[in-house]
Amino acid sequence: MKKIAIAFVSTWLLIGAVYAYEPTETSQIGADGVAMQVTQTEDELAARVEANTVPPAIPMPQSSGVLAAEEYENVQVLGHLNTAQFTRLMTSITLWVAPEQGCAYCHNTNNLASDELYTKRVARRMIQMTWHINENWQSHVQETGVTCYTCHRGNNVPQHIWFETPPDDHGMVGWRGSQNAPNDRTGISSLPNDVFEVFLEEDASIRVQSAGEAFPNENRASIKQAEWTYGLMMHFSESLGVNCTACHNSRSWNDWSQSPARRGTAWHGIRMARNLNNHWLTPLRDQFPPNRLGELGDAPKANCATCHQGAYRPLLGHRMLEDFPSLVRAMPQPEIEPEPEPEPELEGEGEAGGQLEPEGEAPAAEAPEGTNAAPTAMAAPAAMAAPTGMAAPAAMAAPAAMAAPAVAEPTPMAAPAAMAAPAPN
Ligand code: HEC
Ligand code: HEC
Ligand code: HEC
Ligand code: HEC
Repeated sequence: MKKIAIAFVSTWLLIGAVYAYEPTETSQIGADGVAMQVTQTEDELAARVEANTVPPAIPMPQSSGVLAAEEYENVQVLGHLNTAQFTRLMTSITLWVAPEQGCAYCHNTNNLASDELYTKRVARRMIQMTWHINENWQSHVQETGVTCYTCHRGNNVPQHIWFETPPDDHGMVGWRGSQNAPNDRTGISSLPNDVFEVFLEEDASIRVQSAGEAFPNENRASIKQAEWTYGLMMHFSESLGVNCTACHNSRSWNDWSQSPARRGTAWHGIRMARNLNNHWLTPLRDQFPPNRLGELGDAPKANCATCHQGAYRPLLGHRMLEDFPSLVRAMPQPEIEPEPEPEPELEGEGEAGGQLEPEGEAPAAEAPEGTNAAPTAMAAPAAMAAPTGMAAPAAMAAPAAMAAPAVAEPTPMAAPAAMAAPAPN
């Protein structure tokens, strides 16, 4: 009896030693009783917080002073900043994108005005792309927005980019249909590995479930299509560091009324990623040297991980943009007259961050009405979720109220009402 007791106790000690207790934190993210929750160990949480710490911002300079457009030779997009603001932005960009190489990564340091390096030409487009995201894709990035750091994090090339997958070289026999080659695009599953081409470049339909009664032949989605969808969903989960229930009630994947609001945010994110790839990144192809292109000669492209990098909100929702009003939106460029005639319009500009009344005809694409509000007046971050947890479940309380993207499946799919159809440029 004593022996049995000893054996019993030591067995449990052993089991206890093997499965050392790991403290976890669980956040409920859906309605009660449907197991919509996220569980993470404290180590995972700590690692995530560390990976998403934002570098300190350089103090904001005075808002008045000589304009970059007046002072420098070849400023095409940042001429409205004063020289102190301009230098602060250059220094920040250097810390975010080329901390090791410094200014020389983009500049011939003997002639800063020269556009000879591709990195400078690409960086100019990147500044415009950042404006485009922050101004036209608030349906996804809200007022949190992005800076260069969101994607670059101190790297010349962001850590998560993708290229088109070369076709199988198996000939007709043994064609795998891009499957069964476990790949990190779809969470090391054997799902198709060309999901980014299909969904984040082309706009194949993601919806594969029957909408209503399952009449025979009603649902024409193939198994291959379903596998593509699941492959993309694996990428979503991996990129955001969440499981499927962050966006779905798993008893009904397709039902928007049972999905948390963040699934709607993800819907806009898919359209945004497509837009960035087709209208911003792919057109840069000819700027890049061959070693930056993919095996098929295509330009580097973005997916959800490019910004999110394992966090449900990039940088856990930190609003870097508040410290960088010059990255909020495109501004009309001042026209600098060659004659030294005093310009009364130009005198009073200082107080609002160097903004100018557009002189004469403003480029139509750049100045939608009402955008001249000072960037610094951006709404205060009323309810930023604590960095360690998932978003507060408050927003989840009323899933029914969510604007559901049209369930019927015409392609191109109707946008949810709330989406302000962004211009491609
Ligand atoms: C990641 C690329 C990048 C880095 C790094 C960079 N710059 Fe620039 N720089 C640019 C771009 C793009 C422009 C053009 C902006 C425009 O067209 O409005 C520019 C323009 C300039 C100009 C204006 C030159 C002229 O006469 O037209 C100056 C001055 C300048 N940068 C200084 C610096 C300094 C100083 C550093 C290092 C602290 C630096 N830059 C780092 C991309 C970069
Ligand atoms: C949405 C993500 C994203 C944002 C935001 C972003 N970039 Fe990029 N950037 C990319 C991608 C993707 C590439 C292509 C990677 C490559 O060059 O191979 C790239 C490439 C570059 C390159 C070329 C680097 C090289 O060595 O080839 C420069 C320079 C650059 N970005 C500067 C900037 C600057 C400056 C900003 C902010 C004004 C910025 N980026 C914002 C995604 C981003
Ligand atoms: C970040 C949010 C997010 C996560 C995480 C996510 N999904 Fe989705 N899912 C979506 C969105 C958005 C759609 C609809 C896309 C569209 O209509 O364009 C969708 C669509 C689907 C569909 C198709 C539904 C239909 O109408 O036919 C299935 C099935 C699905 N997801 C399964 C999953 C699975 C399984 C996981 C976990 C591996 C997952 N999802 C994780 C956002 C997400
Ligand atoms: C250009 C950068 C960028 C890209 C690319 C991007 N996101 Fe986001 N995403 C953001 C930012 C910034 C936020 C934070 C918005 C906020 O503060 O509410 C966000 C928020 C979200 C949220 C809401 C999270 C929450 O709980 O509030 C979801 C879901 C999401 N993204 C999914 C995706 C998916 C899926 C993709 C790929 C199809 C994607 N994102 C691509 C920048 C990006």
